[in-house]
Amino acid sequence: MTKWSPNSWRTKPILQVPAYPDQAALAETEKQLATYPPLVFAGEARKLKKQLAAVANGEAFLLQGGDCAESFAEHGADNIRDFFRVFLQMSVVLTYAGAQPVVKVGRIAGQFAKPRSSDNETKDGVTLPSYRGDIINGIEFDAKSRIPDPARQEMAYRQSAATLNLLRAFAQGGFANLENVHKWMLGFVSDSPQSERYEALANRITETIDFMRAVGITSDTNFALRETDFYTSHEALLLGYEEALTRVDSTSGDWYATSGHMIWIGDRTRQPDHAHIEYCRGIKNPLGLKCGPSLTPDGLIELIDVLNPENEPGRLTLIARYGHDKVGEHLPKLVRAVEREGRKVVWSCDPMHGNTITAAGYKTRPFDRILGEVQSFFDVHRAEGTHPGGIHVEMTGKNVTECTGGARAIRDEELQDRYHTHCDPRLNADQAIDLAFLVSELLKKSKADRPVRQAVSA
Ligand code: PEP
Ligand code: CO
Repeated sequence: MTKWSPNSWRTKPILQVPAYPDQAALAETEKQLATYPPLVFAGEARKLKKQLAAVANGEAFLLQGGDCAESFAEHGADNIRDFFRVFLQMSVVLTYAGAQPVVKVGRIAGQFAKPRSSDNETKDGVTLPSYRGDIINGIEFDAKSRIPDPARQEMAYRQSAATLNLLRAFAQGGFANLENVHKWMLGFVSDSPQSERYEALANRITETIDFMRAVGITSDTNFALRETDFYTSHEALLLGYEEALTRVDSTSGDWYATSGHMIWIGDRTRQPDHAHIEYCRGIKNPLGLKCGPSLTPDGLIELIDVLNPENEPGRLTLIARYGHDKVGEHLPKLVRAVEREGRKVVWSCDPMHGNTITAAGYKTRPFDRILGEVQSFFDVHRAEGTHPGGIHVEMTGKNVTECTGGARAIRDEELQDRYHTHCDPRLNADQAIDLAFLVSELLKKSKADRPVRQAVSA
C-alpha cells in the first residue's frame, strides 16, 4: 500500500465531485479552512471509539440519526433543541429496554454534502446541475444557485461550529437531565395513539427513577443523570473540505478528521481503490461504511482489510441499508463472512435508504417498511448469533410530513402539508419516538436470547 497523507486521495479516481468553475477560488477556500480551529478534538473521537468498541462487543447500542442534509435555511436554536430532545427521548427508551448504554451520535454539525444518483435534474424541460447539499450549491432551481460555490464551505464550517456549541451546552448544561427527558417522554406517551402499548415501559422507567431518588441517587448527586455524551457524524464526501480539517493530534502524533467525531463512507463512493476509501483509511476516527445490495462478502472483507487492518473494535461500523424486502437476502452473507474472518465490527441498520418510494409526487418512506427492515435486521442477527448493534435513521424534531404511516398514520395526501427536507424524507418527532419504542421491544427480545450465548462462550 502506498504512503498515506491527508491529500493522497487526490491521486485516486473519485466519484461525486462537484464541478467548481473557479478552481483557484476553491483552493483559496481550502487553504483558509486549513487555518481554522478544529471542530472536535482527537480525544473525543477516541472516547467515541471506545464506546463503539463496547457496541462491537455486544455491551451497548448505537443510536445514530439526524437530517439527511442539514441546511443553511433551517439553522436555528429551535431546530437543534427539538432534534436533541427527541434524540434523548429515543435513547432513554432504548437504554431502559436494552439495559445497556446507548451511544448517541447525531447526523449533525457537518452533514451537508450529498451524493446524487444523477449529475443533472430536469424540471419542465429545463436541465440544471443537481443540488449537492448546502456546502456545495443552492437548492433553488435556477442556474445561478446550482453553480458550486466554495464560499459555502466556510458557511458550513461556521454553522457546524455554532451547532456543536449549542449541542455541547445542551449535553453538559442541564438540558439532558434524565428527569427532564423522562417528563418529555411521559408527555409523548399520554398523547400517543399507541399510549397503551408504551405505558407499561414508561411506568417502569418512572418506578426506577423514583427508586433511585428514594435511595439518594438524583441528578444533584450524580453527574451521569445530569449530563450525557453526544457525538457528531457526517458523510465524508467533500474531500477537499475534509482534508483542510485533517489535523495531527499532538498527544499521539496520529491524523484525525476534526470536522466531526465519526465520519462515514457512502454507498456510492466505497470503491476500494478510490479516493474516499484512501482518505478514510489514514485517519484514526471511528468510521462508518454504508453497505448496500452491490457489496459482496469478499468486497466487504477487502474494504475491512483497508479500513481496519488492526481489527480494532469500535473503528468500523457497518451500516446495512438494503430495503425491507432485501435485507434478509443480503445481510446474512455479510455477517457470516465477517464472523468467519473474525473481524470486530459494529452492525448498524439504516432502514431509510433502501425504502424510498415516490407517492403523490413526493419522495417518501412508509413507516411500516422502515420498521420491517429493522425487524429483519434483528432476525438476521438472532439467527447468526451476532449483536444487532444499532440503528441509523434520518429524523427531525419537527412535526414534518415526509414519511408516511406511523402511529398517527400520515397519508400520501398529507405529504404536501409540511414537506421541508432538503434531500431525503425524515421521520418526524412522533415517528422517531414510535420507532424507538418498537425497537425497544426488539432489543428486549434479543437481550432475552443472550444469556444462552454468553453461557456458551463463557
Ligand atoms: C445518506 O445517508 O444520506 C446516504 C446518501 O446514504 P447511502 O450512501 O447509504 O445511499
Ligand atoms: Co439520505
